[in-house]
Amino acid sequence: MGKDWTGNAKSIYTTLGASSHALTERQADDYYATEPKAVEILLENEKFAPQVWECACGEGHIAKVLVKHGYDVSATDLIYRGYGEKESYDFLTCDEQNIEEDIITNPPYKYAQEFVEKALEVIANGHKVAMFLKLQFLEGKSRKSMFAKFPPKTIYVSSSRLKCAINGDFEKVTSSAVAYAWFVWVKGFTGNPIIKWVN
Ligand SMILES: C[S@@+](CC[C@H](N)C(=O)[O-])C[C@H]1O[C@@H](n2cnc3c(N)ncnc32)[C@H](O)[C@@H]1O
Repeated sequence: MGKDWTGNAKSIYTTLGASSHALTERQADDYYATEPKAVEILLENEKFAPQVWECACGEGHIAKVLVKHGYDVSATDLIYRGYGEKESYDFLTCDEQNIEEDIITNPPYKYAQEFVEKALEVIANGHKVAMFLKLQFLEGKSRKSMFAKFPPKTIYVSSSRLKCAINGDFEKVTSSAVAYAWFVWVKGFTGNPIIKWVN
């Protein structure tokens, strides 16, 4: 599928009515592209299902690396940015269930917990969710409850800082002030998370 993915069960899209249009405008700026190297590092450490859904794909910085590694990637976003499915797709309101795919993304940070919970809701048992998140996602009261219910299996801490670029403009990013990690869940896992330090 990859870049030219034209649709599957997820092809029932949100119609852009007044309220979702407002949502689109509100989130227009919350776009930070992930440095492709971050995905290479993830793939050196984790194997995923053959079919992967990048459910907030932006310009495809994550999805393109997955395609390069042979994954069959469906790519959707609330805002079309020139990559993936052209129709607006609101991941948080989708009604997918039991999908036999893994989900890998860097979600909008202000909805990161919602994205994690939604991703774990839509995938079938045993499938993986990998989210590129700020390290500080580990703290916070509501996240504490979520982590108790859904512990990640592995957290890959990026020791040398990886970059995210606002509006995908990596030329303007010289160094990163933010510490990131890949958080990987396996649906159904109830043990203690393992922390690994990468790069
Ligand atoms: C931090 S950016 C990351 C983009 C891409 N995943 C990457 O790593 O390069 C977050 C993306 O989430 C998208 N987004 C925000 N709310 C969304 C929603 N409800 N459903 C789907 N995508 C959403 C934004 O349009 C933006 O492209």
